[in-house]
This record gives sequence, structure tokens and C-alpha cells, in this order.
Amino acid sequence: MKKLQIIHLESVGSTNDFAMALVESGVSYPTVVMADSQESGKGRLGKSWISEKGKGLYCSLILQPKLERNEIAKTTLVAGLAVAKYLEDIMRREPVELKWPNDIYFQGRKIAGILTESQFIPEKRAVIVIGVGINVNYENKDLRVGLNNPATSIKIINGSQLKPESLVEPLCWSIIEYVKRFETEGFAKLREEWRQRDFLLGKMVEMINVKKKIVKGRALGIDEDGVLLVEDSEHIHQILSGDVRLAK
Ligand code: BTN
Repeated sequence: MKKLQIIHLESVGSTNDFAMALVESGVSYPTVVMADSQESGKGRLGKSWISEKGKGLYCSLILQPKLERNEIAKTTLVAGLAVAKYLEDIMRREPVELKWPNDIYFQGRKIAGILTESQFIPEKRAVIVIGVGINVNYENKDLRVGLNNPATSIKIINGSQLKPESLVEPLCWSIIEYVKRFETEGFAKLREEWRQRDFLLGKMVEMINVKKKIVKGRALGIDEDGVLLVEDSEHIHQILSGDVRLAK
């Protein structure tokens, strides 16, 4: 097994951006960039990610997996499994669930999020940057409406403080192990595991479609391509991206 290179920064704009710049200048795989705080932490769909010092883990793992280009998008789902399993192990609480496509939930609240970005290099395998933010020591008062909300943290759940940097190495090995499984076994088994952690499965959900209309339906889980299926009275919608929430 290759060694994991860890780059620990005090503060950075976004560990994902820093990691992406490293890819361009040349870096060994696996490398992880972690920061004590981020000035402009990025979430999915242009949202920001609160990144206060000492309260969360903010890291971006750079990998070059042996995967076809059309498999790369599923690495977010695979990394989600790894983060969920890792959180269950350290919190000794079950079940940690996954909300499609990139949210990690515990008891209906978000505890972590993943932002995967990729770089396709001509005639080489794609490089991925798996950005993970985990709410470690945040208190309820820190997790205000609109910021990673409804949210929770390891401290809120377990009552004890952890050093965010102590999580980075075991977390990365958990992700590396899952990505290896994806390379060698394919997605089918992992999809089954995902289904068991699927927070939305069977629930009524809503989302905004391309015509800016609210679509409501029952979540049927993910298909073999990692696409979310939502059934309404007319048909089964394939949700490729966007924000899905529980229906009001
Ligand atoms: C989300 O839930 O929308 C994704 C959140 C991802 C946050 C992490 S923190 C480390 C890495 N750097 C970033 O700027 N974002 C990711």
C-alpha cells in the first residue's frame, strides 16, 4: 500500500481548490490536504461550508483511481459510504445514513458533507479530489439556520470533544479502501450497501426541476448509475443532480 501524504495547513480558502492546484503542479497519490480553517469553504451547488477553527474537519483527498471516466461521478456515493462507516465506528452510534448524493446524516441531521471534483487529463486516468467536511465540535448554537442546516456534530451526539486533525488519516484510509472495492468489485455491491443507508428511501421528497417547478414523489433509491429515482403518479423521474429534500 502506498503512503498517504498529508499536507496540513493552518488556513486556506478551500482545501478542494488547494488540492486541485496541486494536481496541476504535480503531486503523488494518495495525498490529502487538510486545514484547521477555511476562509471560503465550498459546499455543493455553490453553497458555502462553515469552516471554523477547531470545530470541524476540512480535508480533500487526491486520488487517481483505476476507473473508467463514466464511473467517476459515483465516487461521491462511494466516499459517502466510507465516511458513514467511519463515523459509525468512532461515534459507536448507528445508523449513520446517506442523503443523496453527498450528505451524511445522523438522526435526520447533517453531520458531514462531500464535494468531489475531478480533473480529466488527456490519455491518463482521471484524478479526483474528494472534499470532506465533518462537523466535529460544533455546538447547536453554531449550526444556525441556513448554514449546513439541519445539522449536528460528533460533539452534540457524543458529548465529547475530538481533535479534528486526529480524524484525517483513518478517514482517508476508509475512503481509499472503499474506492479500491469500487475498482475491483464494481458498483453493484456498494449500491446495495448504499441502499441500506439511504435516508430518503421510501420517503416523500421534493425538488425543483429544470422548468423551476416543484416535483414531488416517493424516493425509490439509486440505480446502477447512482441516479436517484423518484416516482410520482405519472412516471419515474431520474434525478441526475440538484437539491432533493423531504416533502413538506
Ligand atoms: C456539501 O455538503 O455541500 C459539501 C461540503 C463539503 C465541504 C468540504 S470541507 C473540505 C472541502 N473543501 C471545501 O471547500 N469543501 C469541502
